[in-house]
Amino acid sequence: MKLTFLRSFPDRVASDTIAAFLYEDAALLRKETATLAKIFGTRFPAIDAGDFKGKEGEVSVTYLQQGKATRRLLLVGLGEKKRLTLERFRRAAAVAAKRGRNLRAQSLALLLPSTHLKLNETIFALAEGAMLSLYRFDKYVTKKEHDDTKLQEIFVVSDQREHQKTGEEAVRRAQIVCEATYLARDLANTPGLDLYPETLAQEARLLAERCGFSAQILDEREIKELGMGGIIGVCQGSVRPPRFIILEYGKKSNRTVVLVGKGVTFDTGGISIKPSAGMSEMKMDMSGAAAVIGTFEAVARLKLPVHLIGLIPAVENMPSGSALRPGDILRHYNGKTSEVDNTDAEGRLILADALAYASRYNPAVVIDLATLTGACVVALGHVATGMMGNDERLMEHLKRAGEKTYERVWPLPLYDEYEKLIKSDVADVKNVGGRWAGAITAGWFLRKFIGDYKWVHLDIAGTAILEETGDYTQKGGSGVGVRLLTEFLRTWK
Ligand code: BES
Ligand code: MN
Ligand code: ZN
Repeated sequence: MKLTFLRSFPDRVASDTIAAFLYEDAALLRKETATLAKIFGTRFPAIDAGDFKGKEGEVSVTYLQQGKATRRLLLVGLGEKKRLTLERFRRAAAVAAKRGRNLRAQSLALLLPSTHLKLNETIFALAEGAMLSLYRFDKYVTKKEHDDTKLQEIFVVSDQREHQKTGEEAVRRAQIVCEATYLARDLANTPGLDLYPETLAQEARLLAERCGFSAQILDEREIKELGMGGIIGVCQGSVRPPRFIILEYGKKSNRTVVLVGKGVTFDTGGISIKPSAGMSEMKMDMSGAAAVIGTFEAVARLKLPVHLIGLIPAVENMPSGSALRPGDILRHYNGKTSEVDNTDAEGRLILADALAYASRYNPAVVIDLATLTGACVVALGHVATGMMGNDERLMEHLKRAGEKTYERVWPLPLYDEYEKLIKSDVADVKNVGGRWAGAITAGWFLRKFIGDYKWVHLDIAGTAILEETGDYTQKGGSGVGVRLLTEFLRTWK
């Protein structure tokens, strides 16, 4: 999908389908549709009949007379102007794009609506909503049912000269961020048969070559030599060997940011095996890794002025005669030990090694992303990512990036009282905390392994894996984290 900014009068746009965005406010709707009617030499029976009111989610198709550059005009509702948000622009653009595709449009032009929101953010949101809504994971489908994939190009159109530079820049940025999100979605949706630690590492290496950052891949022997007992323990039931992926972008600085992503390419639960219903979702248990890899694509292509390290412990969690057992004790990279009470709490075991390893970079900030607990999904559903950490200012900044991108995060407390829930009688810490506060005890476990740095843990179990299709998300992997982190890194000081 190609996104392009186009400076043109609406009636000169050479696109078979044009979308005009309209507010619900009656007087404004009348005025703006009268202008459109004049420009395109048409009437809007849907408006005359009161069928289109400009409400959110509404869309109405008007066919134009032959001889015009355009065949159809989509009227798309934005809701009330005083309640306008960037998210409404994303959703309205998504509605337009999906209708355009269903109508077999070759290209779709989005006319820039009047807005009191920032121009660059408006254009970015429109482009992003349209592109993200058109994602489909169909590379394994040989006989495509839909013959509606003709839609190749989306234009954001304005006739104002002073919009040109801002528009081009915003659309270019949207293209990169959306392609990076597509990559994260593709990685998450790819089955465990094809995506396992070695192939995940290969994908990271290929991307690094393509986008100009470095990738170092540690194999099982090197991981063992480093003393990363969590990674070795979790993968020992699988025939697939583990990998530890290290990505680096930018020049060394005293403001290094480390991103850590959980890379469990399939989570059966191991010996503490999961029920079979819904287990296939666990092919997406590497969504944290996917978010880190996608963010590297975006940051490198946007050439953001940051020094970024990515750490991805990649394993498959399987039951077998060689698998980890409940009761086993592991020794992690920093020398601390953990008692494995449940082999299904594997994510924290591999993240422990990566978080301890992060200290080597003397980072200013470490952010980990992980589909860590079902408890977080119980708490926040699929709407918000659970956030824990040790620095209020950093968390506040992430919260703002979450609101801006609508990849929203919400804090859960790491109060001292929760710490004793993961006390072990035989090791330094136990990997499960019992029935209550499951997302928080997982966060506390991670906290035991962090170094002397500002740290945030994002539990994306609910937001990375979706059960339903939304306006610009699809059932399956959402690619969450890429837009959030890219926005964070663009603005963090
Ligand atoms: N990958 C799962 C968490 C998960 C569950 C992600 C549902 C997405 C959707 C994780 O490894 C896990 O199994 N966690 C256990 C922890 C428990 C054994 C303490 C859980 O949440 O049940
Ligand atoms: Mn698990
Ligand atoms: Zn898991």
